[in-house]
Amino acid sequence: MIELRDVTKTFPQGKGEGGGLRAVDHVSLHVPRGSVYGIVGHSGAGKSTLLRLINHLEEPTSGSVLVGGADLGALGERGRRQVRQSIGMVFQQFNLFRSRTVLGNVAYPLKVAGASRAEARERAAEVLRFVGLDGHARRYPEQLSGGQRQRVGIARALATSPGVLLCDEATSALDPQTTHEVLALLERVNRELGITIVLITHEMDVVRSLCDRVAVMADGKVVESGGVYEVFSRPQHPTTEAFVRSALHDRPDGPALERLRARHGGRLVTVPVTGDAAGGHELSRLLREHAVDFTVAHAGVGEVQNRPLGSVTLELRGAEADIDAVVARLGGLEKAGAR
Ligand SMILES: Nc1ncnc2c1ncn2[C@@H]1O[C@H](COP(=O)(O)OP(=O)(O)OP(=O)(O)O)[C@@H](O)[C@H]1O
Ligand SMILES: [Mg+2]
Repeated sequence: MIELRDVTKTFPQGKGEGGGLRAVDHVSLHVPRGSVYGIVGHSGAGKSTLLRLINHLEEPTSGSVLVGGADLGALGERGRRQVRQSIGMVFQQFNLFRSRTVLGNVAYPLKVAGASRAEARERAAEVLRFVGLDGHARRYPEQLSGGQRQRVGIARALATSPGVLLCDEATSALDPQTTHEVLALLERVNRELGITIVLITHEMDVVRSLCDRVAVMADGKVVESGGVYEVFSRPQHPTTEAFVRSALHDRPDGPALERLRARHGGRLVTVPVTGDAAGGHELSRLLREHAVDFTVAHAGVGEVQNRPLGSVTLELRGAEADIDAVVARLGGLEKAGAR
């Protein structure tokens, strides 16, 4: 649905000559039709620039951007406008017109696209029903809560029936409960309307609850990408690792680990838990074989894409030699606190 081929975007930096700032650095990625694709990265990583390249709010310095098979760079102004109309965009700060009603805001892109007043109002009312705001059509944005404003933002983006929805930190200004509601709405947009979603966030929890695939950006580059479960269970890049830990909260470290050590006199080991049942059987067999007993010191196991993922930290008790043997056999499994 969306394909970036070796895309670079350099901004002239202003101060000093030469170089310029490479906000997006040789990025290639493919967003399959119907998927929810997350892009995470720290502030300044180039996420918003990447998103703006997809709907051609920014021109790539080099490389090409294809949406629905059409190469935006090769299209004329008219063709580009058409492609842009097939892409909806949702912003962190909602970007609604304060002087227009909810209905007026949602009808606006339809009018721009040439719909009659009656058509625009009818379609706007329909999308407002979809986002659950049909009772609020005559209100003004400032009479709404943040979550309701964002639903208006989503309704406006959906008005022209786009095939793609781009969301730039759509939930970053919202509290956790409201975030949850907006994510549930985006999930319906994807599932019921079949719209492909590209979503930028700095919260891995958002990726975990909504996305199929994820790309991690650092310094303008995509440093890692893949299926959400795969990336969560086997992060390769340090940036990814840090993001994954922040969402899984699965292993104690720092002061929490010190407290565990104070509470538990025995040997602590942290064992990953995945959807792989064989791993669990292997562990219990190993403990039985060596007559090593255990207590759960810390458990951080949750679900990612409906599959278990996380780790448990166990205190092992038994003869030293037996514990040594178990720890040796655990092999690739890490000791508590190891990262
Ligand atoms: N129009 C512009 N002109 C010059 N530099 C820009 C422009 N837009 C972005 N940049 C720079 O490009 C880099 C990437 O910015 P971008 O907004 O894409 O990051 P981001 O990952 O979205 O960050 P955040 O999480 O803070 O929104 C930053 O260093 C930024 O200052
Ligand atoms: Mg940004």
